Amino acid sequence: MSQAAADIVLAELAKKPKMVLGLPTGTTPIGMYDALAKAHKEDKVDFSGVTTFNLDEYVGLAPDHEQSYWYFMNKYLYSRTNLKRENVHVPNGAAQDLDARFAREYDEMIKNSGGIDLFVVGIGQNGHIAFNEPAAEMPAFTHVVELTQNTINANARLFDDISQVPRKALTQGMATIMHAKKILLLAGGPAKRDAIKRMTSGVLTLDCPASLLNLHPDVTILDC
Ligand code: F6R
Repeated sequence: MSQAAADIVLAELAKKPKMVLGLPTGTTPIGMYDALAKAHKEDKVDFSGVTTFNLDEYVGLAPDHEQSYWYFMNKYLYSRTNLKRENVHVPNGAAQDLDARFAREYDEMIKNSGGIDLFVVGIGQNGHIAFNEPAAEMPAFTHVVELTQNTINANARLFDDISQVPRKALTQGMATIMHAKKILLLAGGPAKRDAIKRMTSGVLTLDCPASLLNLHPDVTILDC
């Protein structure tokens, strides 16, 4: 799955060296980042023209915090490729005025980049995409969200203690994700089967935010 995902990214990059990539964190994409880093090490790919925008970040964690998503991206991708620091973006969970100002600026930056060419996303056990959690309604664009207990439990494995898992995150909204030209969804392992089944059942519901991807004309699902 990871190599197939990296091959899709590399094929899109070969077509458009100045592409704009949307990226996830989490356990699932690590193998894809390893494959991309390997391709770069072997001189098979040049990331210098690529711009990236990450999906989300925990509220309250500064980029140098070891559990922050910026830290993760630097560890698995930025430090292992020639992506330019000025071209990589992760929402800043420690910014002031998150909802009122930072979220709007993040959406503006994505828009000004020309929009996302390829969005790689993961999926939560509860059907979340980015941190758009199941809810009766949700903001369409970047916003602060309260994480569900299901997500807090699932992410606790990455912290010393569940009490350290932030309760809120800043996330891109489903509209920004849906505006990407192409979406690649990665779902690793049996824990995601139920979410994928719900997503592909043909029913649209905010109780499974991933089901909105049925409205997009170009979605590839890779699972294992
Ligand atoms: C992370 C993100 C989340 C994860 C999802 C799956 O940036 O947006 O939606 O993709 O929670 O996480 P893993 O891959 O750890 O199972």
